[in-house]
Amino acid sequence: MTTKKKIPLSQVAIDDEVKARVVAAAESGQYILGPECKAFETELASYFGRGHCILLNSATSGLLLTLKALGVGPGDEVLAPAHTAFPTIEAIFLSGATPVFVDIDESATLDPSWLEPRVSARTKVILPVHLYGHPCDMDAIQEVAERHGLLVLEDCAQAHGAQYRSRKVGTFGVAGVLSFYPSKNLTVLGDGGAVLTDDPVLADRLRMLRDHGRRDKYLHETVGWNLRFNEIQAAAGRVFLRRLDAMNDARRAKAARYLERLQTAPITLPTESKLARHVYHLFVIRTPKRDALAKYLAAEGIQTGIHYPVPNHLQPATIGRPGVRAESLPRTEAWVKEILSLPIFPSLTDSDVDRVSAAVHEFFAGPGKA
Ligand SMILES: Cc1ncc(COP(=O)(O)O)c(C=O)c1O
Repeated sequence: MTTKKKIPLSQVAIDDEVKARVVAAAESGQYILGPECKAFETELASYFGRGHCILLNSATSGLLLTLKALGVGPGDEVLAPAHTAFPTIEAIFLSGATPVFVDIDESATLDPSWLEPRVSARTKVILPVHLYGHPCDMDAIQEVAERHGLLVLEDCAQAHGAQYRSRKVGTFGVAGVLSFYPSKNLTVLGDGGAVLTDDPVLADRLRMLRDHGRRDKYLHETVGWNLRFNEIQAAAGRVFLRRLDAMNDARRAKAARYLERLQTAPITLPTESKLARHVYHLFVIRTPKRDALAKYLAAEGIQTGIHYPVPNHLQPATIGRPGVRAESLPRTEAWVKEILSLPIFPSLTDSDVDRVSAAVHEFFAGPGKA
């Protein structure tokens, strides 16, 4: 085992400003959906240029509640990529609707050419996922949605601040859903999520559903949940939101350095499509020698990840579920065997990028040569 400093896959940088805001929120005596949450919602809506932001306890809740609030349920179908975190698909299942899985394109996001042939009378929603921080091909997706009268619900859990045609993701569909899970580009020191929308009726419904179906303290208009957000995490999130663009620029700079350092390695590097501004939530390379490379890097003290090794159409929770069509997804199934996420986060140093890159080259010059 190496004695070198460990390089994690991701890391949250906490400083005195974050600590001070968290302590102030803790001492305020208000803990849930108070002034910090209201300010965070206003600032998020303004950052994204959307009319409303509804904070929730996770993106999974955001996806589920939005589907519910849009009236999506049993008998309905939602077109979604199988290559995403399971919660995207879990939310569809929890709503009672059925996911119809589509394959990915070269950017690892939903391949729009798979959509139209799978639209049926039951299809209600297209759910693109801006995976790894790369925006989906929104022109093509919206064209299909408009032609068939479908709603678009964007999963932006990995893509805060990513842009397509200079427009932020999360502003294309009827709603966009954010996750603040600790590894994400924007975090809140724990779980958290939000829905962005311009639709005041949808926003109102989401606010009710997250809080026991009420607008008034003791008047419950519908049956909802407790999926509320809290003051301490909102206080931290507000500080990180002010730094989001700088943190995304830092991620892009690390990615550019990796791309340069790894240019000659026998691996496939991530790409950025012409209309995209990638925010590199993850830096995902591909190689048939993935498992051996991951093991080699681990021995060098370098943490890696696989996002995701089992695609959602092949998950035990999916297989055999009534209504789910069994269809093979060639690119997804091939890529999951080869993808490897290298460390990337704003405070990763240039020398860390160089060390990881050198270790990749060493692997292919040594144990990975054959
Ligand atoms: C693409 C994607 N969608 C949804 C989620 C769910 O987010 P959360 O953990 O906030 O519920 C995640 C997080 O892992 C994700 O990466």
